[in-house]
Amino acid sequence: MRNIVILISGGGSNMAAIVRVAQRDNWLAHYGARVAAVISNRAEAGGLAFARQQGIATQVLAHGSYASREAFDAALAQAIDTYESSSQPALVVLAGFMRILTPGFVARYAGRLLNIHPSLLPAFPGLHTHQRALDAGCKLAGATVHQVTAELDHGTILAQAAVPVLPGDDADTLAARVLTQEHLIYPRAIAVLLSNQ
Ligand code: GAR
Repeated sequence: MRNIVILISGGGSNMAAIVRVAQRDNWLAHYGARVAAVISNRAEAGGLAFARQQGIATQVLAHGSYASREAFDAALAQAIDTYESSSQPALVVLAGFMRILTPGFVARYAGRLLNIHPSLLPAFPGLHTHQRALDAGCKLAGATVHQVTAELDHGTILAQAAVPVLPGDDADTLAARVLTQEHLIYPRAIAVLLSNQ
């Protein structure tokens, strides 16, 4: 069994899209994979309720309760590792997880730690991507699924989707248009990764 552990901080719409596609396309039968757990660093993350309704294990690790970034990441790794065996390491999927991870954490999950970022990387790593794309006069915006490396929003690109920037767009309207594409490319990129392994 290949367990997928999804980390969220908020609404969890990407997580929900992954869960729905995993069910629709029967990832269990095709890849021996299932979404085993959803972990949030915020107790109020809206996505937790959806995960619970789906019968998925949920856990909250409030980052503010830890003395250091390293201590939080160590607790996070411990939680993730309960979902893996030596023969079947878990796939760790960041879906709107708004914490920067330590190099040690990233190294531990190298090659099986994915992120989705709401820009066409390498443009606009970091925060406020949609406003920055608008300010730069971009005619296209989009999202990127990538392997996570120690450098923020870098790492091998697995999938991208582009959307037009339309006249009158603000950061919210652009974000909503990009998000619809995120929900398509993230499950697809994970399925490709699972099928290649
Ligand atoms: C998504 O747009 C995702 O790309 C972004 O946060 C949103 C989470 O939405 N992630 C980042 O900005 C990571 N730096 P969701 O909780 O509804 O999936």
